[in-house]
Amino acid sequence: MKLKFILLALLISTVSIAQKSIDEKVSDLLSKMTLKEKIGQMNQYNGFWNVTGPVPEGGDSKVKYDHLANGWVGSMLNVRGVKEVKAVQKIAVENSRLGIPLIIGFDLIHGYKTVFPIPLAESASWDLEAIQLSAELSAKEAAAAGINWTFAPMIDITRDARWGRVMEGAGEDPYLGSLIAAARVRGFQGEDLASPFTIAATAKHFAAYGFAEAGKDYNTVDIGLNTLHNIVLPPFKAAVDAGIKTFMNSFNDLNGIPATADTFLQRELLKGEWNFDGFVVSDWGSIREMIDHGYAKDNNHAGELALLGGSDMDMESSIYIYELEKLIEENKISVAHIDDAVSRILKVKFELGLFEDPYLYCNEEQEKEITGSKEMMDAALEVAKKSIVLLKNENEILPLKKNGVKIGLIGPLAADKNSPLGNWRIGADNNTAISVLEGLKNYKGNDISHAQGVKLINKTPDGFHEEVQINTTDKTGFDEAIALAKKVEVVIMVLGEHGFQSGEGRSRSKLDLPGFQQELLEEVAAVNPNIVLVLMNGRPLILNWAAENIPAIVEAWQLGTQSGNAIAQVLYGDYNPSGKLPMSFPRSVGQLPLYYNHKSTGRPGTEGVDPGSVFWSHYGDEKNSPLYPFGYGLSYSKFEYSKLQLNKTEMTKNSSIKASFTIKNTGKVKGKEIVQLYIQDPFASATRPVKELKGFKAIELEPGATQEVSFTLTESDLKFYSANQKWEAEPGTYHVFIGTDSTSKEKMTFELN
Ligand code: NOJ
Repeated sequence: MKLKFILLALLISTVSIAQKSIDEKVSDLLSKMTLKEKIGQMNQYNGFWNVTGPVPEGGDSKVKYDHLANGWVGSMLNVRGVKEVKAVQKIAVENSRLGIPLIIGFDLIHGYKTVFPIPLAESASWDLEAIQLSAELSAKEAAAAGINWTFAPMIDITRDARWGRVMEGAGEDPYLGSLIAAARVRGFQGEDLASPFTIAATAKHFAAYGFAEAGKDYNTVDIGLNTLHNIVLPPFKAAVDAGIKTFMNSFNDLNGIPATADTFLQRELLKGEWNFDGFVVSDWGSIREMIDHGYAKDNNHAGELALLGGSDMDMESSIYIYELEKLIEENKISVAHIDDAVSRILKVKFELGLFEDPYLYCNEEQEKEITGSKEMMDAALEVAKKSIVLLKNENEILPLKKNGVKIGLIGPLAADKNSPLGNWRIGADNNTAISVLEGLKNYKGNDISHAQGVKLINKTPDGFHEEVQINTTDKTGFDEAIALAKKVEVVIMVLGEHGFQSGEGRSRSKLDLPGFQQELLEEVAAVNPNIVLVLMNGRPLILNWAAENIPAIVEAWQLGTQSGNAIAQVLYGDYNPSGKLPMSFPRSVGQLPLYYNHKSTGRPGTEGVDPGSVFWSHYGDEKNSPLYPFGYGLSYSKFEYSKLQLNKTEMTKNSSIKASFTIKNTGKVKGKEIVQLYIQDPFASATRPVKELKGFKAIELEPGATQEVSFTLTESDLKFYSANQKWEAEPGTYHVFIGTDSTSKEKMTFELN
């Protein structure tokens, strides 16, 4: 009996150890750690030597190696591949006193080895399932290569196409941006973070990095509470609600305070009001950069400000590891601050399953099987097709006939296998995209000849550093291209930005086609106007001349590994395009920042209607409207909207209102239309945008078919950050617009009581 009792007690205690909550496990471990070991968890280093080779002998790499072996490194970034990850993990786990595993971070901005479309392009699909799947498969492929944490999604709302990082985000709209943010978080993290196929995600850059003045990267941000809460923060809140595990703060100063040390953002809002229980990593060196900002006087001060501001992990400043102990001695920070940061980091490591198996993400067989698998390739092709936006199609020049046509394929990007991968594809091998030439050649019925026209100087030494240029000095390819254009029935021109022309640090002050491309386009058009212009670019470009003079324009962004196949299928009509722009395309740089959800001003005027005075909000030399608006995109089908109606004219706070309409495919082929619903609150305690997206649906219709479609609006769709500094819906009049893009004019009205 006694023995039975002892056995039972033993069993209960074993079970209770196994069942210990993660919080208990974290505090147990924390109680065993020295101060230096705790600080070590807050220290992140970039991969610093050939980790599968000999141990570094001297210098900085040797110091970092020793830190790793001492347990003074909590995370490494940019180490990838099972072999490398295993090697560093082994040092941390086997050499350090407590054997705490590393969390391995990597920028999976649009895939790892298999490159998916750049995020701005994927956002043009408005297809949340496809976007989620793209993140899920990126996570799966990267997890198979040892990575268990990604610095994605980048969810900065952006209104200025000069900023090179617009390619990484979801564009200008907070509603679409929030849904996409949540979809990506679900994709990366899945249902079970401890699965070897899911990884922790990061919401970045917190906050307002996308509002860099004049679109110049790393520049100052000065915005008010209204814009911050209504436009910038919603995707971050959506990421928290979707269960995101980590945040990254940002390089910029926001209203005078570098985001890295912003206590309001990180402590009051994120960890306070929003109850976020994951951890915050700084951006690369952003703790040290506070000295250059003129906010911290030295490293020690920068460390103090960052920690008090809520940065839990130091990415590559090496300030925490050298300064935090001193700061404790000086009583400038407390051990409680450190314990909080470390607990947050350890919690995510436990949730990832790293304590049970530090090599959970290190399975060489899985790595071989998953990398570049058919599953990856098929999904990359699907989402690439969905991301393409048809901007113009005069006289139905598209889709192309599949047989008997002589085609001239012209342009520096037409046969390029590198640019379609875009920027931020550091895990991928160079020149691994299917080029447009290759994609078109899969269709055998036509005769395709190719000429570069403008030469691309492509000497990319690695997947990150740029040595690519679209030629600005050499026009020797023009003659060949023009001669080709004269001989063919249809010219396909592939022009745009090279793969490293957008992305971090790639702001541009001009947004036209770089180099001699515009000149080439005009000279080719002069001899053969039958041109299909395929654009490859990481941001909205200025296309005024092309919009006037070229019959067909296809926005094909940088679509990743499967680019050429996706583009060919769209050009030949095997896929009917349905993408819609997630960012306004300006007419000139002087219009920037440009966005559909702007305020009215006291002098709005109406474009095209002469107000009889100059004293209204406009330019003397340019229209106010974009060339192509937010939400815009054509199809090979035609869609007609009718019977737009609301089911009532009044709504109370706890009821809903239904907006419905009929849509008909009046075209000749089956097609998909992304129908969009916008609202306007014309009078409020704080001024509201002229329009705000509040719903969208993809409707697929056979030719001649019709469908009734409806949207339901509730009080929560009407909420905004009001003059009372809270999220609320204010009673009064609301307008509803439904249509094909953000310019739909037919207005329906209801009252919220
Ligand atoms: C700096 C970038 O701003 C950030 O987005 C990225 O995650 C880090 N570098 C790490 O590569």
